Amino acid sequence: MGQEEAVDLAKIAAEQRRHLLLAGPPGTGKSMIAQALSLHLPRPTNEIRIVHNPENPERPLVEIKEGPDVVREEREMKGAEGEMIDPKEAPINVAERLGYKCVNCGIYSSQSERMCPKCSRPKTTSGQGTGNPFGDLLGGIVEVTIGQLGGRDRVTTTRQRFGKEEVVVFERAGEMIKVLDQKALEKRREIEKISPRKALVRLKRNPFVLATGASETELLGDVKHDPYGGHPQLGTQPYERVVPGSIHEAHQGVLFIDELPQLGPLQRYILTAMQEKRFPISGRNPQSAGASVRVDNVPCNFIFVGACNIQDLQHILSPLRSRISGSGYEVLVGTTMPDNGRNRAKLAQFAAQEIAMDKRIPHLSNAGLRAIIAEAKKRAKETESKEKSLTLRLREMGGLIRSAGDIAQGEGAEFIEEGHIKKAVKRARTIEEQIKERYGSFYSGVASESTGSQKESSPYQFWNYHVQDDKRGYR
Ligand SMILES: Nc1ncnc2c1ncn2[C@@H]1O[C@H](COP(=O)(O)OP(=O)(O)OP(=O)(O)O)[C@@H](O)[C@H]1O
Ligand SMILES: [Mg+2]
Repeated sequence: MGQEEAVDLAKIAAEQRRHLLLAGPPGTGKSMIAQALSLHLPRPTNEIRIVHNPENPERPLVEIKEGPDVVREEREMKGAEGEMIDPKEAPINVAERLGYKCVNCGIYSSQSERMCPKCSRPKTTSGQGTGNPFGDLLGGIVEVTIGQLGGRDRVTTTRQRFGKEEVVVFERAGEMIKVLDQKALEKRREIEKISPRKALVRLKRNPFVLATGASETELLGDVKHDPYGGHPQLGTQPYERVVPGSIHEAHQGVLFIDELPQLGPLQRYILTAMQEKRFPISGRNPQSAGASVRVDNVPCNFIFVGACNIQDLQHILSPLRSRISGSGYEVLVGTTMPDNGRNRAKLAQFAAQEIAMDKRIPHLSNAGLRAIIAEAKKRAKETESKEKSLTLRLREMGGLIRSAGDIAQGEGAEFIEEGHIKKAVKRARTIEEQIKERYGSFYSGVASESTGSQKESSPYQFWNYHVQDDKRGYR
């Protein structure tokens, strides 16, 4: 609410794939706007895969699969997975050998139970439980033995189909039996033949990727360490150890970085990724076996959305800002909105939603709502020096509503009333304001406790020795 310009630009950014930089004070809706932008994006159509490179395993290859191909392949894989049947539909000797049917009493039960729940005897013949005179006595021991040895998980037989004999494999699959006929077996062999690969960034994914405060590996991807150095038999192959970075996960989506200046020098990589739309993944720890692995040209075509506070703007790399404004928009989010009927109604809706989401506090009475509106108006005037306006620092307004709600709840009141809000406003004062109240002025409050050395290094130095007037100090 109240951020019409930013919302309009976010919609354009989603449609035209433009970048966005949002600057403004905390709690004014920057994260909300970025998140909403991703809801306007079409679903990703690419799946990114890493393919084993038999010629040079340390240089795995990238494969980009289009959506329909991924879906078709999944269907084929299903075909190779075979058909699931109920154990009761399987040939009797198969059900017995896989441990679904008791050889003694013929009752079906879960294959995870080694002993028949009906006759309490071992279900399979492999246990030799039957005919043993000490069967009952040794029951417990036999159970253990079967648990370790017994229960095959696969039975191969043949069957007659259209006058021809064909191989059929029955496999255990939880409570069901999987049947692999000749066709499924052939398909399985075919899939095993093509080079092994793994999906790095899946087709079905969230197009909104939050990378706030990310480390280098989280942001850019990594190749995990393998103590066996990717040994063909013992180790994990390099292609399997490749991990995507946020920039890759945001392919075809939104990469949102809150507190952008916090990234410091990492901003440079984002700049490159934005420009090239692809970024290599390599092992980032020089001590790890992953360091020798590199995958080139991993796509990362994302819409970049950055957010920051106004005083941090100067810490954003200027080439990055130039990329954003060259192919997108910089927006200063609003801090106030005009105080009119429409916006009051929006504020009322906001309050009701915050209360509904909180679930633990009662709703506002009419007078309570008026007090909230009055407070929003007061805050617009105090912090933004704007007359006839309502504040858009809504996280703080939400906080006020919740603490007033807590007071009302504690008193067992049916609604949040004006009085509760007054009390909450008093409670919600900043520490600086509390100091001012207790010591008369911020200056004397700080002076009352700082020692000589603190005076030198304290950030309040400025107030203490240079600005005697609190109001100017705050500014
Ligand atoms: N314009 C707005 N419309 C509706 N609700 C808002 C708006 N701005 C803030 N809020 C409320 O405040 C909460 C915090 O908003 P949000 O996380 O988007 O702030 P932000 O600008 O990203 O803050 P920060 O700079 O601290 O990250 C939201 O969950 C919502 O409840
Ligand atoms: Mg935020």
